[in-house]
Amino acid sequence: MGSYQIAVLPGDGIGKEVTSGAVEILKAIGTRFGHQFAFKYGLIGGEAIDQKGTPLPDETLAICRESDAVLLGAVGGPKWDRNPAHLRPEKGLLQIRKEMNLFANLRPVKFYDSLTESSPLKEEVIQGVDLLIVRELTGGLYFGKPSGRMVENGEEKAVDTLLYKKEEIKRIVKAAFELARKRKKKVTSVDKANVLESSRMWREIAEEIAQDFPDVTLEHMLVDNAAMQLIRSPQQFDVIVTENMFGDILSDEASMLTGSLGMLPSASLSTSGPSLYEPIHGSAPDIAGQNKANPIAAILSAAMMLRLSFGLSKEADTIEKAVQHVLAAGLRTADIAQKGQRAVSTDEMVNEIKAAILDNEAISHIMTVYA
Ligand code: IPM
Ligand code: MG
Repeated sequence: MGSYQIAVLPGDGIGKEVTSGAVEILKAIGTRFGHQFAFKYGLIGGEAIDQKGTPLPDETLAICRESDAVLLGAVGGPKWDRNPAHLRPEKGLLQIRKEMNLFANLRPVKFYDSLTESSPLKEEVIQGVDLLIVRELTGGLYFGKPSGRMVENGEEKAVDTLLYKKEEIKRIVKAAFELARKRKKKVTSVDKANVLESSRMWREIAEEIAQDFPDVTLEHMLVDNAAMQLIRSPQQFDVIVTENMFGDILSDEASMLTGSLGMLPSASLSTSGPSLYEPIHGSAPDIAGQNKANPIAAILSAAMMLRLSFGLSKEADTIEKAVQHVLAAGLRTADIAQKGQRAVSTDEMVNEIKAAILDNEAISHIMTVYA
């Protein structure tokens, strides 16, 4: 029996619906296994801009720092799209990642047997896919200076900078090797070393770190090729480690191997202090507030929290199994439903997963109702 404080930052759009689903699931886990979860809510993103004039208020950061882990929904929406850089919802997300030193973003991509039909790719291509994208999260193109717009000699310009310090690359590549050691022992380091200087340094460092992990195989892959290989033969990958923006792009692409962006959880870890868990999807303003969003990515993010921050692997397994059960039983939110198939609401999906967690018999009930 443990007692944990979780900071919850729902954010904007479907962020609210999916985090409230994940909180429900955590409560169910608390009931079933006798843990105490205390939830403290904070503002981030567009809502924080509206209420506090900044996308990451100090109170929010304070709540996160004094908690054991952070659960985040999503930020952003058309309402704030024309705001200047410092008043954009996304800025709040980047700031919290930086402030809490969450440099290692883990994005697991797992094939679900029952979702074969939901992926646009052929079954033989996605069968058995089990890969982990380790995205560097606090450096690279997202944070390099200079960044901004200017007018020089009457000409309008914009600049972003891809900058990495050696230590930043070392720690993320090392994390990837350590994770690979517990998996299939293969690291694919993705870069653009044929063009970018930062990538050439990345490659050198990866080679250096590899010396300390003789049991793990290292391969290098150019990012354009990696984008293609992820669709051509995703089974070849185990751990992919890469620069912030490459990781952002490749993880959205990789989500389609599972059938939907709505399925992918993530964990953002630091070497000290609480970690943050969030679905990789955005705030989906087009379906926000309609009880349609797929809560599974947020729920699986909560499972990652239990496993990685609290060491509760049995509890994490229980959530993952419950998700597999409802999927196997045929439950589908709109994003993963087939043509003509009834899509369930966010609440229905959450309730059935909860039922599966609380009561093993519920699973067989779900099986008969949705078969
Ligand atoms: C993600 C998102 C964010 C990112 C956005 C919302 C800033 O796309 O977590 O992948 O680019 O990192
Ligand atoms: Mg993204």
